[in-house]
Amino acid sequence: MSDTRIGIWLIGARGGVATTTILGLLGLAKQKIPAIGLVSELALFNDLALASWDRFVVGGHEIRRSSLYDEAKKLFQSSHVLDPELIENCRDDLAKIDECIRPGILFNSGSTIEQLAQEGQAHCPPAPRAAVEQLVEDLAAFRRDHQLHHVVVVNVASTEPPVDERTIPGTWDELSRQLDQAGQCPLRASSLYAIAAFEAGCSYVNFTPSLGSAAEALCQLALRRGQCHAGRDGKTGETLLKSVLAPMFAHRNLEVMSWVGHNIFGNMDGLVLDNPENKQSKVVSKDRLLREILGYAPQTLVSIEYIQSLGDWKTAWDHIHFRGFLGTPMVLQFIWQGCDSILAAPLVLDLVRFTERAARRGETGVLTWLASFFKSPMGVAEFDFHRQFQMLEAWATAVRQETPSACR
Ligand SMILES: NC(=O)c1ccc[n+]([C@@H]2O[C@H](COP(=O)([O-])OP(=O)(O)OC[C@H]3O[C@@H](n4cnc5c(N)ncnc54)[C@H](O)[C@@H]3O)[C@@H](O)[C@H]2O)c1
Repeated sequence: MSDTRIGIWLIGARGGVATTTILGLLGLAKQKIPAIGLVSELALFNDLALASWDRFVVGGHEIRRSSLYDEAKKLFQSSHVLDPELIENCRDDLAKIDECIRPGILFNSGSTIEQLAQEGQAHCPPAPRAAVEQLVEDLAAFRRDHQLHHVVVVNVASTEPPVDERTIPGTWDELSRQLDQAGQCPLRASSLYAIAAFEAGCSYVNFTPSLGSAAEALCQLALRRGQCHAGRDGKTGETLLKSVLAPMFAHRNLEVMSWVGHNIFGNMDGLVLDNPENKQSKVVSKDRLLREILGYAPQTLVSIEYIQSLGDWKTAWDHIHFRGFLGTPMVLQFIWQGCDSILAAPLVLDLVRFTERAARRGETGVLTWLASFFKSPMGVAEFDFHRQFQMLEAWATAVRQETPSACR
């Protein structure tokens, strides 16, 4: 393990989350930043032979022409995140990674995302098969050129509008036939990236609410190709708090009558989510867990508004109206003010590290034990954060038992 190199392939490679992930990884590999915010750096996971930070090589797909250095500077100027000294220190490394970023694809991506794309930076193939083949070729070249042991593909691209999942064939054999026919395939780009990842022998992590690998037919493909995957929609802020607080109301038998959450922020993700179609994917993802945890459906409202001046800083104000003994109504309110990319980036790095370890020990299919990282965890009906974390602990115990002490 000590000499092997592992690829991280970021879809949306010059976005806010990707840029922060890359700069953070460089900082960790150079030992210039502390490991605060990284779950995989908890003592609990010390002896699992997780890959060290200097083992990773980064590439990706992107539909905008820019440079990682410019994107990092933009984040600093607009939102005062990222250390300017670290940005300067990593300038050459960022330029090298830029060379590994290839034009992305657009496919049923919707008008808001299409407007982000720049000339020559996005393939728009008529039939999805051609797109998948192009993506597979890019991944194979990355793996070959850098002699990578394994590649984890992570979707951190803009949120797509939802897909009507009833229109997706239930088996991979049927879906595969649709890939050859223009105008027949209901999938969007995020799912074509997932198909390409599996076809190229890579793991796939979906950090966004887009469909990605969540359709049954894609789960079948992952199993056939012996690959593992996880998703969907990183749980970084307001929803993390919901998944911690809702079990408290449930365990104390307090009745939640309504839960209202207003979110305001001003980064590019916010701009994309300003389109009601794209926003719908996020609202569904943020709203569902209350019903699942409480076992009944209180009145809920989730609003997401784009306020440009806030940049990458998100404010969420939640108002929880609940009823206690003798029917007495009470209120809990909280205000969460978090920096979106700074909350997301360490989780992306944790997910890559855990997923690579799972792939190395031969796990295939959905990695359900990563549920605590996601708002809409795939393959599990567990939404309580603490119970989800116990699933991760149980996985760690199993891995520890089979890891020779010399590797610890
Ligand atoms: N705390 C968080 O920041 C957080 C939490 C959970 C989920 N997410 C999700 O992560 C994603 C990234 O967030 P962000 O703040 O970095 O957004 P962003 O808008 O800064 O970055 C998205 C990037 O994806 C690129 N892109 C869009 N479509 C593409 C395609 N088809 N192929 C390749 N590249 C494409 C865009 O050009 C852009 O550079 C969003 O979907 C967001 O909802 C973020």
